[in-house]
Amino acid sequence: MEVHGAHRGEEKRYGVAHVMSNLDADGKPTIRISKASNYHWHTDKPYHPAPPMLTMLRAVEVPPKGAGRGGDTEFANTALAYDALPDETKRRIAALRVVFRPAFDDSRPAINHPLVRTHPDTGRKALYLGNHSTHILGMPETEGRVLLDELLAHATQPRFVYVHRWRVGDLVMWDNRCLLHRVVVDAAMGQYRRVMHRSVVRGTVPI
Ligand SMILES: [Fe+2]
Repeated sequence: MEVHGAHRGEEKRYGVAHVMSNLDADGKPTIRISKASNYHWHTDKPYHPAPPMLTMLRAVEVPPKGAGRGGDTEFANTALAYDALPDETKRRIAALRVVFRPAFDDSRPAINHPLVRTHPDTGRKALYLGNHSTHILGMPETEGRVLLDELLAHATQPRFVYVHRWRVGDLVMWDNRCLLHRVVVDAAMGQYRRVMHRSVVRGTVPI
């Protein structure tokens, strides 16, 4: 398990689990959309040398049924997305490395990982990108950004996405090595409490 570096919106920690919520300092629901927010497609902590292999999330309080899609979590399968790329694109991106830096902390050193990573258990290849990826190593930044944006748009098409609608008590575990995820934001997230407990399990250096 990894101890989490708390940042905004994550008020309490219980050793290996911590709280993620949409509550402000007064305990009121609020929508904070920043570069670092989990409303953007991301994989958890890719700016670590050995990012977490999996994340566990348990729903403690969620917006009520019928409140809209706000608070749902969407998961995009980047192994399926990789498989669906044209062969020419697969060849073009095979040896590229992505530079990651946390959007909330410029002081951390940038880390780079393979854009196409091989799952250590299944041997399947998957795209590794999303929020916190800044550019491609050794490529002009704008060009790298455009490529990352194109690949992200490809990987997050509805055909690769599962949407989880939370019920209180749900526990979802996901594999950060082959999935992107994001929280759906709409007006409900500014109206209703959403409180989750999260733990992450350390992974290995991506290859
Ligand atoms: Fe996340």
